[in-house]
Amino acid sequence: MSIAIMCSGGDAPGMNPAVKHFVDYVLSKNLTPYLIYDGLEGLIDDNIKLATYSDVAGIMHLGGTKIRSSRSKRFFDYEYRKKAFENLQKKQIDKIVVLGGDGSFRAMNQFYKDFGVSFVGIPSTIDNDIFGTDYCLGVDTALNTIRGAIDAVRDTSSSFKRGCVIETMGRDCGYLALISAITSGAEICLIPEVCFDLKSITKRLKEEVKNGRTYIVCIVSEGTKMTSQMVDILENEICMETRATILGHIQRGGNPTVFDRLMAVEFVTNSVDKLLDGCDGLVVVYKNSKFEFVSIDYVNSGKYTIKQELLQLANRLYK
Ligand code: F6P
Repeated sequence: MSIAIMCSGGDAPGMNPAVKHFVDYVLSKNLTPYLIYDGLEGLIDDNIKLATYSDVAGIMHLGGTKIRSSRSKRFFDYEYRKKAFENLQKKQIDKIVVLGGDGSFRAMNQFYKDFGVSFVGIPSTIDNDIFGTDYCLGVDTALNTIRGAIDAVRDTSSSFKRGCVIETMGRDCGYLALISAITSGAEICLIPEVCFDLKSITKRLKEEVKNGRTYIVCIVSEGTKMTSQMVDILENEICMETRATILGHIQRGGNPTVFDRLMAVEFVTNSVDKLLDGCDGLVVVYKNSKFEFVSIDYVNSGKYTIKQELLQLANRLYK
């Protein structure tokens, strides 16, 4: 029996440990592992290779993904999906583990409906924005990268009595910004999920500066598009020289943390076992500290929301 693995959409730290464990685990079961390079684009272009131990040796500690990833427009087109199916047929692959986000799972579900190719999805994105799971592969590493960056920016901001506005990724999800603000001791946190009150933030900070605060750390999620406005407020209303730091793609790279390596191994083991049990069209989720399976339709039926208790922890940072 042949099983393949593929990364799709934005890469996330932990994908390499997942790919390595996939090959080792499938070989240990005397099955045949395949690597689909370049995501859905590679599936269409037949960039699918039989895997050996040596293909995945020495990648456990590396960020990114050795088998690369892509966001494919062509896969929306039935003709290209047919081509992808024929490529798999040639190699007798009828089961795939897909590391990606909900867009990738939706694409694979269509593929499954078209041709019956079984798949199990592993939620993988630094955004932590997939409905049905508390955790997506890569989030812990991204948070630690952000922590390092905030700590470093704080060093220079405090030395210069400056404000710093640090923008995190996350698309429309404020999870990265929220957790980073709570764990870095920031003064302000702006995320799309919350109605922040700029007037009251300004009033509070003026008071704090009057009482001796010498620098300000403000964490802004990219989804709010508030970075430059926040710099203006700190400069013009709080009268504090301020610099903006947009963390950008450094958040996506870097060596996966121990937690992400372990999660990768567990996500993959669960996925392969489920495929071998004859189940498919599922996503393996991590919910209330347990691995479970939910249908792809379920994952696509809702929008991820950050737990109220977490939002509550940063209550004073929004006003
Ligand atoms: O979904 C992951 C992510 O890194 C988002 O946080 C970000 O908005 C987006 O991808 C960036 O996409 P790209 O790498 O295509 O610029």
